[in-house]
Amino acid sequence: MASKKGVALVKTKTLNEGKNGPSLFLTLTFRGDRKEDPPVDYPARLWENAGTVDPAIKVGSLVMVEGQLVLYNNEQQIRLSRIEPLKASEEEIAAFIPKSRVEASSGMARLREYMDSLADPQLRAFGLEILADPEVAQLFPRAPAAKRNHHAMVGGLLEHTLEIMAMGDAVAPILSLNRDLLLLGLFLHDIGKCWEISPSAGFSYTDEGRLVGHMALGVEKCTQVARRLPEFPERYLRLLHHFILAHHGELEYGSPLLPATPEAMAVHMLDNLSGQVFAMRQVAAGPDGWGYEKNRGAFIYKEGSDLSRLDHTPLGKGIRKVFGP
Ligand SMILES: [Fe+2]
Ligand SMILES: [Fe+2]
Repeated sequence: MASKKGVALVKTKTLNEGKNGPSLFLTLTFRGDRKEDPPVDYPARLWENAGTVDPAIKVGSLVMVEGQLVLYNNEQQIRLSRIEPLKASEEEIAAFIPKSRVEASSGMARLREYMDSLADPQLRAFGLEILADPEVAQLFPRAPAAKRNHHAMVGGLLEHTLEIMAMGDAVAPILSLNRDLLLLGLFLHDIGKCWEISPSAGFSYTDEGRLVGHMALGVEKCTQVARRLPEFPERYLRLLHHFILAHHGELEYGSPLLPATPEAMAVHMLDNLSGQVFAMRQVAAGPDGWGYEKNRGAFIYKEGSDLSRLDHTPLGKGIRKVFGP
């Protein structure tokens, strides 16, 4: 059994009162093996003295841990034998918080270029006005796109948004979609995350996030911004609201509405594609080269994107024959 030892950030913590006594269930973030690797999350469990240890372990702080890696529900979990709180500076903690590879000022400049490129003058004015909103300018470049699962990192919302806008820009002419509406819809779909999730360690939900949620928060901001533009048509504002309210695509995924325009369907699909691919890449491979994605309950073949690693298998040769020299 492999062991795991080192310094980690406490991302989440719950004390479970089981029938065999209390246990602590944690998500611990470790730094990557190499300096350039992103931090990696591990679920971890402490059985011994969990009730006594619990008050000393704070979400967003660093701990020294030691334990064994075990497979639990197909997922690698650390069974902790030791956990001790550590004193750490803000900077030391920041090194454990995942950050987007998109640099904030160039990412925001790219977003502005997209908005500047909209053909419809009123939609363009709206896009530029919302970008100039002081709260959006301050919060959008740092907001995570999610608490977990996909783009859960400082600047994750900006990276996720730019990713789907690039896809939308490419897809619009192929599917004869309205580029202005599609790009604006993609930009706005998750803007409410700025107020829903805190970008500090643990990415916890804010009170307004819990009470109102990112869709209603996004709708509210769009209405506020539209009121600053005297000529902005009400029908346009409703279309923009619709992008936000329908982007989860299915009622069972928390969408109050189903997409009612092809552009709204495209926003939902591109958003989903970006999130799903990210989540697959996040999964750590076990010793057999497969990982398990808990959210979808699916096994991921981690070598499946890398044809060079398939070279010596019959499948690899087959793929080469079709695609490669
Ligand atoms: Fe969303
Ligand atoms: Fe999204």
